[in-house]
This record gives sequence, structure tokens and C-alpha cells, in this order.
Amino acid sequence: MSRIRTAGLLKMKQEGKKITALTAYDSSFAKLFATCGIDVLLVGDSLGMVLQGLDSTVPVTTTEVAYHTRCVRAGAPEAFVIADMPFMTYPDPATACFEGAELMRAGANMVKLEGGEWLVEIVQALTRQGIPVCAHLGLLPQSVNVIGGYKVQGRDEDGAAALINQARALEAAGAQLLVVECIPSALGEQVSKAINIPVIGIGAGNQTDGQILVMHDMLGMNADYLPKFTKNFLTGRDSLKAAVEAYINEVRNGDFPGPEHSFNS
Ligand code: KIV
Repeated sequence: MSRIRTAGLLKMKQEGKKITALTAYDSSFAKLFATCGIDVLLVGDSLGMVLQGLDSTVPVTTTEVAYHTRCVRAGAPEAFVIADMPFMTYPDPATACFEGAELMRAGANMVKLEGGEWLVEIVQALTRQGIPVCAHLGLLPQSVNVIGGYKVQGRDEDGAAALINQARALEAAGAQLLVVECIPSALGEQVSKAINIPVIGIGAGNQTDGQILVMHDMLGMNADYLPKFTKNFLTGRDSLKAAVEAYINEVRNGDFPGPEHSFNS
């Protein structure tokens, strides 16, 4: 794996090269993904669901994300690793810096936060203290109890315009990357064009600057339920490596996600 950093990701956007990303939570998978050439690893708070068997990400703590970040860093020493800041660990700038620092010490290159304009001061404080930020808009799993379920966001004109404004505000505050989750493909494309920082989509169509999937979905490990926006890349392949390479290739050449994995307005 090449030693990609934020400048490299920005260059990929500028050159129209798709960024490939997967979640990872342990050293073995991190090593496999890095060997296959993935650009970004995310230690997602999705670990609450896929590792701990919970029904949301809400109970996950910074200590737990830090533990898994250390595991991922051990398996992929050169990787670009983003660590999720869990629910209620960034209510104000000082707390955010304290919690974010724990993830950086565990080996993260960047932290990810869910939310819009209300995060501006927090993003400014984190970046001032040397903690790079990835923002996260669209479906915000940490707010599932407010939203009332895992629903596609930004389907109406007002919601779409608000999301674009939020992306601009977060970029201006210093965010260097943006994840957009479960929004219509057209909005995924608009937001990617509206800001200069790379936009990585999950359920946001194939016109974003890159794609991320939860590794358990990509490997079909949840046989009961496969969300519409994911694909089991292990189907028809005989190794984990072949599945990961297929995911990377399909993202790079724009085949994944197809219309069947995407949402309309
Ligand atoms: O926690 C996570 O895995 C995430 C991805 C869904 C982007 O935030």
C-alpha cells in the first residue's frame, strides 16, 4: 500500500481518480485490505453493530474505537486510517479535542464526526490542535433516535440545499474529507462538485469522489440483511483477497455502485 495522506486524496479528486475505502476493525483485515491496495481504512463506530451485535452505534465509546484503531494500525502501519468519534464525544470544542487526541494517539490519521453547521467551531478547534477532520453528512447513524430510523436523506429540494450548505460550511471550517451516507445519487454528484475536498459516498451513487462500505457487508457476512447500497463481493469468488480486489476495481472503474445500489430523489 502506498503511503497516501490528505494531500494525496485531494490530488486523486483533482485527477478524477476514485478513492477506495473500507471499514476495518482488526489487524488481520487491515493487513489484507492494505495489501490489496485500499486507499483509506475507517475504524467506524459501526463496530457497535458488526462486532458487538448492538442495534445502533450509540453505545460505542472512544476507548473502544481507540482499541480497534490500535489493532488496525498494527496490521497496516502505512495505511491512511480514519477513526470515528463516537456519539456524544464532541459536544463542545474542548471535549472534542480531548477525545480526538485519544484516537490520534491510538494511531488514527484523521477523526470523523457526524453533523452539519453546528460542528463548525468543533472542526475549527480540532484542526487548530492538529487533529484532521472528516465530516459526515446525510444519514447520521448516531442520530438514529432523532431521525426515527435509517432513512435516505436529502430527497427534497430544501434538504438537498441544506446538505450542500453544510458541506460548504464544514469545508470552510477546515474539514479535509467528507463522507455522505444514504442520499440520492444526484445529490451525491452535486455535493462532490460543490466543494473542493474529496467526498466519499456510501449509498450516494457513483458520482462521488470515492466509495466506502462496511467490510462485513462487502463480504456478505450478514446473511439476513444486505442493505440496498451494498454488494456482496465474495459471491462467485473463492477468496477474501479476490473479493477485496474486485471491490477496489469496481469502485475505480465506476461499476460500483450501480443504479441498483443507488437512491433516486
Ligand atoms: O461507522 C461506519 O462504519 C461509518 C460508515 C458507514 C461510513 O461511518
